Amino acid sequence: MLRPMSSPERDPPTYNPRMHRGGKLSFRGRVQDGDGDPGEFLVFGGQDPPTLRDLAGSQWRGIEVEIGPGKGAFVLAATAARPDVFVLGIEAAPGYASLAATKLAQSGRDNGRFLVDNGKLYLQDRVEPGALDAVHVYFPDPWPKRRHRGRRLFTDDVPAVLARALRPGGCLYFASDNAAYAGQVARVMGSAADFRRDEDEEARALAAGPGHAFTPTNFERKYVAEGRTIRRFAFRRVGR
Ligand SMILES: C[S@@+](CC[C@H](N)C(=O)[O-])C[C@H]1O[C@@H](n2cnc3c(N)ncnc32)[C@H](O)[C@@H]1O
Repeated sequence: MLRPMSSPERDPPTYNPRMHRGGKLSFRGRVQDGDGDPGEFLVFGGQDPPTLRDLAGSQWRGIEVEIGPGKGAFVLAATAARPDVFVLGIEAAPGYASLAATKLAQSGRDNGRFLVDNGKLYLQDRVEPGALDAVHVYFPDPWPKRRHRGRRLFTDDVPAVLARALRPGGCLYFASDNAAYAGQVARVMGSAADFRRDEDEEARALAAGPGHAFTPTNFERKYVAEGRTIRRFAFRRVGR
């Protein structure tokens, strides 16, 4: 159950200009009703989000980010399968973030958090260079209308943002059912000097199963049931 976000227990901003910097976003401003309390597992970034170092600490073998985790299937599976890795889900929609954070809180695991913020901006201004082992983006909003294309996550400036945040050898993992958007990502990432597509890594991750890259998300399950073709890419950060 979801209820309007004017709840007195939580006080997220109704409009946060930071969230829309670098492109307008669209999401439902609702918070989760109910049985659970996400507690410290849900962080509202507001105008001045905590840095990645503040959120994650430094005791982990690796740190990964998912941008747009929705209901959190990947973060929940990854934190369970790989307890020595910290996974941060950055979600623009407070309702989804709250729902996912409550599930994580109930799991008893401490190696993940959900942050309400704009994922692209967060990588730009709250993540130290080379801090990330992986960035995951699964089924980002395709914005099919031409006049809305600027709202897509993978605009031409994104490879530089990813190259700064990922360590050399780290990977961007992407999946989509939308052929046009997947084509745009292949073009934008494929022409970036800092990245090489790694098809062996795509096969390895798929074979590794739940908790690894390409873990089926809610949107993937829905689209597979509809018989849609899923396109998956791993782009590895090359150079130093
Ligand atoms: C189509 S849903 C996919 C959710 C999930 N990845 C899945 O596959 O089930 C896209 C999600 O990305 C979120 N989103 C869109 N732009 C974002 C951004 N710049 N930063 C963080 N989240 C974003 C939306 O709120 C939405 O929950």
